[in-house]
Amino acid sequence: MSGKLLIPRVAVIGLGLIGCSWIKGLRVRGCLEEVRGYDRNLDSMQLALSEGLIDAYSENIADVVKDADLVIISVPIMAVKSVLESVRDHVSESAVLTDVGSVKGAVASDVAAVLGANFSRFVLGHPIAGSEKSGVMAANENLYVHHKVIITPQDHTDKEALALVRRAWQAVGADLEHMSVDHHDEVLAATSHLPHLLAYSLVDTLANSHENKEIFNYAAGGFRDFTRIAASSPVMWRDIFAANKDHLLKTLDLFSHDLSSLRAAVEQGDATTLMGVLTRAKAARDHFSKILARRAYVEPMKTASISYIANPGKALSGSFRVPGDKSISHRSIMLGSLANGTTEVTGFLEGEDSLATLQAFRDMGVVIEGPHRGRVTIHGVGLHGLQSPPNALYLGNSGTSMRLLAGLMAGQSFDVEMSGDESLSKRPMGRVADPLALMGAIVDTAEGGRPPLKVKGGSALKGIHYDLPMASAQVKSCVLLAGLYAEGETSITEPAPTRDHTERMLRGFGYDVTVEGSKVTLRSGGELTATEIDVPSDISSAAFFMVGASIMPGSDITLEHVGINPTRIGVINILRAMGGNIDVLNEREVGGEPVADIRIRSAQLKGIHIPEDQVPLAIDEFPAIFVAAACAEGETVLTGAEELRVKESDRIQAMVDGLVTLGVNAVGTEDGAVIQGFGAEGKFGGGEIDSQHDHRIAMSFAMASLRGSAPIVIRDCANVATSFPSFVELSTNAGLELVVEGGDGE
Ligand code: S3P
Repeated sequence: MSGKLLIPRVAVIGLGLIGCSWIKGLRVRGCLEEVRGYDRNLDSMQLALSEGLIDAYSENIADVVKDADLVIISVPIMAVKSVLESVRDHVSESAVLTDVGSVKGAVASDVAAVLGANFSRFVLGHPIAGSEKSGVMAANENLYVHHKVIITPQDHTDKEALALVRRAWQAVGADLEHMSVDHHDEVLAATSHLPHLLAYSLVDTLANSHENKEIFNYAAGGFRDFTRIAASSPVMWRDIFAANKDHLLKTLDLFSHDLSSLRAAVEQGDATTLMGVLTRAKAARDHFSKILARRAYVEPMKTASISYIANPGKALSGSFRVPGDKSISHRSIMLGSLANGTTEVTGFLEGEDSLATLQAFRDMGVVIEGPHRGRVTIHGVGLHGLQSPPNALYLGNSGTSMRLLAGLMAGQSFDVEMSGDESLSKRPMGRVADPLALMGAIVDTAEGGRPPLKVKGGSALKGIHYDLPMASAQVKSCVLLAGLYAEGETSITEPAPTRDHTERMLRGFGYDVTVEGSKVTLRSGGELTATEIDVPSDISSAAFFMVGASIMPGSDITLEHVGINPTRIGVINILRAMGGNIDVLNEREVGGEPVADIRIRSAQLKGIHIPEDQVPLAIDEFPAIFVAAACAEGETVLTGAEELRVKESDRIQAMVDGLVTLGVNAVGTEDGAVIQGFGAEGKFGGGEIDSQHDHRIAMSFAMASLRGSAPIVIRDCANVATSFPSFVELSTNAGLELVVEGGDGE
């Protein structure tokens, strides 16, 4: 089926808001030839006729459905059966029937009872839209635009019938979703039927209590908002509660149970439990559209596609602070949660990756307040205080969350499953599963050592010595964190130094960690004591501006409070070796991590062979360094960086492809790249870049636009929010000419 939808004859049974809005929507869009209507109420039929919604009506339902191609049944749930009985012998062989009821199980059994268990041309549907108003006059042709309509096809549903109903909904702008009948009723019990029941119940309780009568005079705000839905039709809700009895009772029992715990917390003045409920609920409410699965941090239902249009920019100027360090933010949540006492974090990165870690610990019962302007308060539960999460932990795009958590989860008494988005689902997890297995953990991966990861609880871990096969702070941290729960001593030798935030922060929490050369050792049996953490700015985010200011003549910027941990400063060393003009000022130590302000002035860079010992120290900064290399005089060669191929994207390929698109002579090698810089006089050409959903690829090409000669269009930039949610604002303030296109506008 293609082309414009045109349905010759439609019958609509029940002329309420829902049916009339659908008909009106189809009518004004020219999708209907003739519409006949039926309603128990003669006035409604006359009104629908005079409003031009229908072309004819009859008090005899048989006349209305006769010869109809599509019969829309839009009557209260309890009336569906009798409607079916009265139309059964009059609808044509080929007619398609559909409904709009909010409980699909009940309608499905009515259809089976009246039309037969295998009747295939009834398509069960439910539009999730409504209005305060009702009746023919309230019909709104745009009621369904961008609203969800759930279709619950059954195994025996006829394909063409389904296609017709789908098209009829799509024609009025609805977003269609398919669900099973049972799942629909379960979801609706929780998201609609229970809230209505509670709203009616609360109003009734208060209205019946003498002392409370007076409050209705003051019932603005909370009461009004909470109970707005108790003004809808009692008959309709009575019917819905009856029709969805089993699912409603189940969710009501769950709620009653949680409500009694909340009551006990109030009675006992248990502030921590209360804060747990309130902070979890707030987080969930803030992600309202995403919580149907009871996970506040969930896979975006559709990743809104965002593009940057990056026009040639100005010299960068200003003194500013980029957001908090991602690696340290993750670790602050993990260790704060496992500590005894309350940990206060400031400067926390409110990016999606660290929020994924935060939500994972909330899911495991840790009470975490915030984040609010970078402030997070974590009520630690101790090393053995985590609880089994209600669902799989969803970790979005964050490899650090999954790999570090794998180590921690191996030491718990409960099973945990961890999953992630499309990019994370392709990343290698064997590198953590292997050493954990040596420690006695049971960690299952999907094929090829990819997520999801299933970590079995209750394994008795034993300490091991592990020679890291690759320079990876994530693997090192994973093994160390498992070591907190393993019998005896756990040690690791790394082939090259990698970021040591885990070691430093463990010590900050009072846990003994020894470092001798490339070997890190800890013993189990200790405990973590809550502390304060001031997260410095992320040098990996600062790196974009270091490169931007270096390549754009006339630039002079200062980046404040940047973490300059020696295991992270490869980007400074490399840019300096290329001739970059970088001053590290005002060096100080904050909470065990060195911090400084970094001034960068433009400079003509030259190509170099990047020393391999700098690779792990700049591992996340290579996309930006590639842009610097393109602007340098002469050739830059990178070797020993095969790890770049397994980051959020294959960063060697993504960068080389993008640079070539912009006219740069660059080739990828197995473990690096060779880039011919265009030098002082050169510029990037315009073009369209695929960021591969990788935040660092997107931001690197945004910086390239400073030296652009034409617009650079960068696709799929939504993931910039994983590490640098304020990137567009900060970079345009500093001198970039970025325009954002797309997004869901919320
Ligand atoms: C990180 C370690 C690095 C880095 C990642 C963060 C960490 O990964 O790329 O962005 O916080 O431990 P590897 O350890 O796999 O190199």
